[in-house]
Amino acid sequence: MSLIEKAAEKMKKTESLVEKAARKAAETAAKAKASVEPSASPADAEQPKVSEQTSPTAPVETPAKPVSRSYGRTSRYVEINFDELKAQNIPVMETDNSVISEEFRIVKRSLLLNAFAKGDSAIKNGNLIMVTSTQPDEGKTFCAISLAMSMAMERDLTVLLIDADVEKPDVMKRLGVKADLGLIDVIENKSLDLSDCLLKTNIPNLTLLPAGKKHRLTTELLASERMGDIVNEVAKRYPDRVIIIDSPPVLASSSASVLALSVGQVLYVVEADKTREIDLKEALSMIGSSEHINLLLNKSRFSGGKKKFGSYYGYGHQ
Ligand SMILES: Nc1ncnc2c1ncn2[C@@H]1O[C@H](COP(=O)(O)OP(=O)(O)OP(=O)(O)O)[C@@H](O)[C@H]1O
Ligand SMILES: [Mg+2]
Repeated sequence: MSLIEKAAEKMKKTESLVEKAARKAAETAAKAKASVEPSASPADAEQPKVSEQTSPTAPVETPAKPVSRSYGRTSRYVEINFDELKAQNIPVMETDNSVISEEFRIVKRSLLLNAFAKGDSAIKNGNLIMVTSTQPDEGKTFCAISLAMSMAMERDLTVLLIDADVEKPDVMKRLGVKADLGLIDVIENKSLDLSDCLLKTNIPNLTLLPAGKKHRLTTELLASERMGDIVNEVAKRYPDRVIIIDSPPVLASSSASVLALSVGQVLYVVEADKTREIDLKEALSMIGSSEHINLLLNKSRFSGGKKKFGSYYGYGHQ
């Protein structure tokens, strides 16, 4: 029995919405695997390797300290601190065969299939993927960064990771990067160009857009025409780029439902044994405008009843 099937079995005992997603997940994962060859060998699904996990190796030399330097007016370069990532269990290397790493490979395949679907299956702004959840602390930022790392390992793909949780911006902190200007500044200040705030990183395929300074009218700014223009510009200017947006929790901030209006896909994090179905249903109805919502069960427990962090991908709340 594969890891996915095992997880699906486990999930049959949980809430119905999640259960529904679980039933579809095995099909989706199989389809995704068949359609696109994984970029690294899959882990042995029968024997999850979390306990044997070796520290992921950085794709480039690990810096002693994160630094940033100016690249002319518009571009800045920052170095992601891989030690910080390792300490948080975030996989950073394509040869990392931890369970989490493998699970994010499966997650990204389905998202990429949708992001670059052609013809009748094409999804408007499908390359814009918002990561959200019902309540705080369910693992949005963890999943957004892990997904961005996993996608950035793809040969022909560039990734932009946006921190749109402007009330609790955590992405840069987690990556060990210092930043000032960001999304809110570009929305607010028309003389700023998006590229003024983008940060190139020591992962060649990965660019960052910080949240920017706090603003009392966050939701209004995110709902503004300018934000719509920025989102469309990003999606169109970089059609071969995936944009991952770390967002606030749906029930705690109206910004999430506003953001959902602009994106093509939502990766919706459900925390195992914590997210309540009643809240989940309410939250999903609030972002119901988005047709492509993918549920991801995070921090799930499987493997002999031992508690492990891990994620499980359930697909297809439609
Ligand atoms: N699958 C996972 N494996 C290991 N650690 C995890 C996992 N998911 C979440 N965590 C940890 O749980 C904590 C909460 O996660 P995170 O900050 O990503 O949640 P969040 O939903 O973004 O919270 P907030 O709503 O406050 O922004 C963090 O310390 C994170 O490192
Ligand atoms: Mg967060």
